[in-house]
Amino acid sequence: MMISPGGIDERTWNGAARDFAGAKRGFDKLRSSGSVGFADLGGDKELLAQVERFAAGARGKFDDVVILGIGGSALGPIALRTALRPSGWNMLEDKARGGFPRLHALDNVDPETIAALLGRLRLERTLFIVTSKSGGTAETMAQFLIVHDRITAAKLDVSKQMVFVTDPKQGALRPLAQRLKVPALDIPPNVGGRFSVLTPVGTLPAAVIGIDVKSLLAGAADMAKRCAGEDLATNPAGVYAMLQWIADTQLRKTIAVFMPYSDPLRDFAAWFVQLWAESLGKKKPDGTSVGSTPLAALGATDQHAQVQLFMEGPADKTVTFVAVKERSTDLKIPDGFPDVKELGYLTGHSLAELIDVEQRATAGALARRERPNMTIHLDRVDATHVGQLMMFLEIATSYAGQLFGIDAFDQPGVELGKQFAYAQLGRPGADAAKKEWESLPKGDPRWSV
Ligand code: PA5
Repeated sequence: MMISPGGIDERTWNGAARDFAGAKRGFDKLRSSGSVGFADLGGDKELLAQVERFAAGARGKFDDVVILGIGGSALGPIALRTALRPSGWNMLEDKARGGFPRLHALDNVDPETIAALLGRLRLERTLFIVTSKSGGTAETMAQFLIVHDRITAAKLDVSKQMVFVTDPKQGALRPLAQRLKVPALDIPPNVGGRFSVLTPVGTLPAAVIGIDVKSLLAGAADMAKRCAGEDLATNPAGVYAMLQWIADTQLRKTIAVFMPYSDPLRDFAAWFVQLWAESLGKKKPDGTSVGSTPLAALGATDQHAQVQLFMEGPADKTVTFVAVKERSTDLKIPDGFPDVKELGYLTGHSLAELIDVEQRATAGALARRERPNMTIHLDRVDATHVGQLMMFLEIATSYAGQLFGIDAFDQPGVELGKQFAYAQLGRPGADAAKKEWESLPKGDPRWSV
């Protein structure tokens, strides 16, 4: 990030401490007022107990777990499954999964996927986790209505096949939980969707499929402490937020690429993209638009897809690599054809070595072309480190929100689209949106090919 030319110069960086101090004050105020609660989740014993109780009761009863939810209610648990369960988890035999169930997350309302999944499941051996902070999201409620109908049609007990994860008071799911006698776990009121992976939104499905949730939370608590320090130089989230903010606002690096060199972190990148995009892409009170655009990439795969663009396309990007020191397994590259020079140099190395070398090579090549980049070094992809990484990025996003001068915890920009959808579906109370929708110019045949 500090290459010259092309990166952040030292004078600018020396001035960063003052901006960081202001951002930290702003975030600390939100925390101490109680309006933002995600940074304390690592130490929330009560939520952990709720999750552990439920997971212990569910042990051995289910072959499949399905999350009904979307956005922040789905991306976190998907990231946890891919990072912290063996590769290809849902395709493994029961024994290889240690008797823990498969985990699916709908994260959409495309009938193709949902019909196919429901067609495959044995309903009596499936747990449906209905996850919605607001308890009223259209997509999640539609998924719920379909699944509820299937369960009752199969004469199964809804209270045994479902669990809700929602706000303790607000929304339609709470009263429904009472009415249907479905157990319900809490998302604390001061934790929003994309910051909720360390609440039962993520920890409940994680615990049910056998992920070490205690270590995940311990990692998060440890990182929250490390990111609470006043000194910018030793505050990882502060450094990340400052680098990205300076790159965006002073160097016009408006695209923030997140590129782990690790298949287990593939879905983690999608989780990060939502966190950064929905938190920071905002209008300020003065009407100006801010926020850098996150872009997910995967190493080494994207060296053969997107890296050409990162190297020679518009100089509008930063790249954040995630390098992993120890992998759970490795494969030696054998000496198959010593006489073929295109293969011989690979012999004696291993795949872990190859992927690491390629990460360093790509970082170096970008720097050589004046393209700023940084590397997050992860000792290994386990529950502790994933908890740390999640908390680090959530706090960094919050600091960045302060630096950009916006509220990182709301999402007013998605409201109008929701209202237009309600208007077309006939939801009561959407009259104003209906009028506005109908006043929009309709499809013009001149622009239709
Ligand atoms: O981050 C957010 O707040 C959103 O992406 C939500 O997670 C998403 O809209 C789903 O909302 P809910 O959990 O209220 O159903």
